[in-house]
Amino acid sequence: MEKKFKRTTVTSALPYANGPVHIGHLAGVYVPADIYVRYLRLKGEEVLFVGGSDEHGVPVTQRARKEGITPQDVVDRYHNIIKESFKEFGISFDVYSRTTSDVHHKFASDFFRKLYDEGKLVEQSTMQFYDEKTGKFLTDRDVVGECPYCHKQAYGNQCEEGCGRALEPTELINPRSKETGETPVLKETKNWYLPLNEYQQWLKEWILEGHKEWRPNVYGQCKSWLDMDLQPRAMTRDLDWGIPVPVEGADGKVLYVWFDAPIGYISNTKELCDNEPERWGSWEKWWQDEDTRLLHFIGKDNIVFHCIIFPTMMKAHGSYVMPDNVPSNEFLNLEDDKISTSRNWAVWLHEYLVDFPGKQDVLRYVLTANAPETKDNNFTWRDFQARNNNELVAVYGNFVNRALVLTHKYFDGKVPACGTLTDYDKATVAEFMDVKAEVEKLLDTFKFREAQKEAMNLARIGNKYLADTEPWKLAKTDMERVGTILNLSLQLAANLAIAFEPFLPFSSEKLRGMLGMETFEWNQLGSTDLLAAGHQLGKAELLFEKIEDSAIDAQMQRLEDIKKANEAANYKANPVKPTVSFEDWEKLDIRVGTVLECERVPKMKKLLKFKIADGLADRTIVSGIAEHYAPEELVGKQVLFIANFAPRQFKNGLVSEGMILSAENYDGSLAVTSLLREVKPGSEVK
Ligand code: MF3
Ligand code: ZN
Repeated sequence: MEKKFKRTTVTSALPYANGPVHIGHLAGVYVPADIYVRYLRLKGEEVLFVGGSDEHGVPVTQRARKEGITPQDVVDRYHNIIKESFKEFGISFDVYSRTTSDVHHKFASDFFRKLYDEGKLVEQSTMQFYDEKTGKFLTDRDVVGECPYCHKQAYGNQCEEGCGRALEPTELINPRSKETGETPVLKETKNWYLPLNEYQQWLKEWILEGHKEWRPNVYGQCKSWLDMDLQPRAMTRDLDWGIPVPVEGADGKVLYVWFDAPIGYISNTKELCDNEPERWGSWEKWWQDEDTRLLHFIGKDNIVFHCIIFPTMMKAHGSYVMPDNVPSNEFLNLEDDKISTSRNWAVWLHEYLVDFPGKQDVLRYVLTANAPETKDNNFTWRDFQARNNNELVAVYGNFVNRALVLTHKYFDGKVPACGTLTDYDKATVAEFMDVKAEVEKLLDTFKFREAQKEAMNLARIGNKYLADTEPWKLAKTDMERVGTILNLSLQLAANLAIAFEPFLPFSSEKLRGMLGMETFEWNQLGSTDLLAAGHQLGKAELLFEKIEDSAIDAQMQRLEDIKKANEAANYKANPVKPTVSFEDWEKLDIRVGTVLECERVPKMKKLLKFKIADGLADRTIVSGIAEHYAPEELVGKQVLFIANFAPRQFKNGLVSEGMILSAENYDGSLAVTSLLREVKPGSEVK
């Protein structure tokens, strides 16, 4: 019963322009969407790939406030960085625009107005916190106060630091405006709501009955929403950054960011179609024609918006097609920790490009190999290196290189004629002809990581073929046989160029150049006639390069440094110990000593042995700081020590006559105490 569509509109979630993009974005949304679009294009299908930046919403205003610049400054900066990163990684959008564009403002505004005029929205008044000092309503996260349950500091929507409960801002004890510290007042405000409840039955039928083929994570999330009673949801907000609500008397209100952003897919399409009508036709064709298949590529936190809210908006509007599928990924972790912009725990694309220039395909490959398609997955630098060295270099690159180099060596770089095939040749051909159907089946069902594995199988087949037939051993005796083997190997290499184009476009382009391939279509996959006998090949270059340990160590060190910086930023001193009396304090005899000698203690890797001048008879002190100081660093320095500790004997017979004072840093490292000015050894600390 599968419907035949004439064309496909592919959208990928519009990233917030409040920061650069990282590997999580790429793995979750943009690489899979790009693979799919490139695959359709290669098949000659009519396809449109829409992207853009999501430039409204509270996160943008928060960033602006923190940096003391305007929201427009913020989005201008990040829109350009993001757009550039996508381009560098070969994410082949047909249009990449932004939601602050004029076209979008007008389009989203008209969309809202139509729903409003037709009575599709419900007007509701609520009481909301308002900061009289700034004259602004406060979003839930702009209100802070004491959690009524655990009494820790909490946000208006959630007690993050304490018990984790979801809260209403009005529940907070002693609520304050986060920005100004003012006590907010409750004030009535009017907003317009999308009555999701009126569409619940339709949503249930459309998704729960009609789209059982959606990924289990997507279907499951929809089901849990639709099993509850849906509530009307506000489509306008009391904010000053966004698209003004096009209704009289709605001053100071803007469209809810999740109302305007998905409309951005449509307005960006309109922008493209208006610019190049001959190439793209009308925007309506891509959004309103029943023969158009609509697909949304997103991350899991976007599911409810793309499966429930946006479809309801389009349904209420009336003219739009519904998404046919919403391939949503789970999350990608980095070295077993959640990726986080605020903790800087990420691999940023613009930084990767500096550290690994020209290696975009390597990251694309690794992210697809670890795609979080059915569960959260993990990116590690060691795995990145291993996949590059053991798969891209050792399998794909190695096979292609051997086929080309041998042809240059024995046939002057001209494709040799294919003679009679042996049974083994035939079996090899049969094996690689299967790959096309296999990859197609997987791509058609959005199983990108398995599809890429299948493509890699082609290279494995090739490597095995060369290893088994050993043409270099036949070169003296049977050049016709060598020709046949290399002909088949080169055909296989040409197949690889095609099969990998959706996944690794830069490498495919390079390989295609080396092979001098002219036509390049998906339907040629499985063919053994891609390169004619006598065809001149280009120069053999390496498709991939080994990544050395040092490059990986540098990345690990960077992450280590970030972890340290985060720990330092989060460090809180311990609570103060119970009060002691002055008499207690006076019992301790703390003195200054000058270090005369300092050396390591054999077999005790934590210990340093000091000879200290103390103004009386010199003394020996043993201290557990060998992991924090080299002995020579301390010789000649003045340190503080406790002079009246009972001598302490170590296992090896060493006796310590006192204790050198050190401060313990947040990370456990030790810093020896010293004085700001030199004094006589033996001076007392009072
Ligand atoms: N900016 C949103 C996010 O990063 C995604 C918006 S998708 C759109 O989660 F549909 F609204 F455009
Ligand atoms: Zn709490």
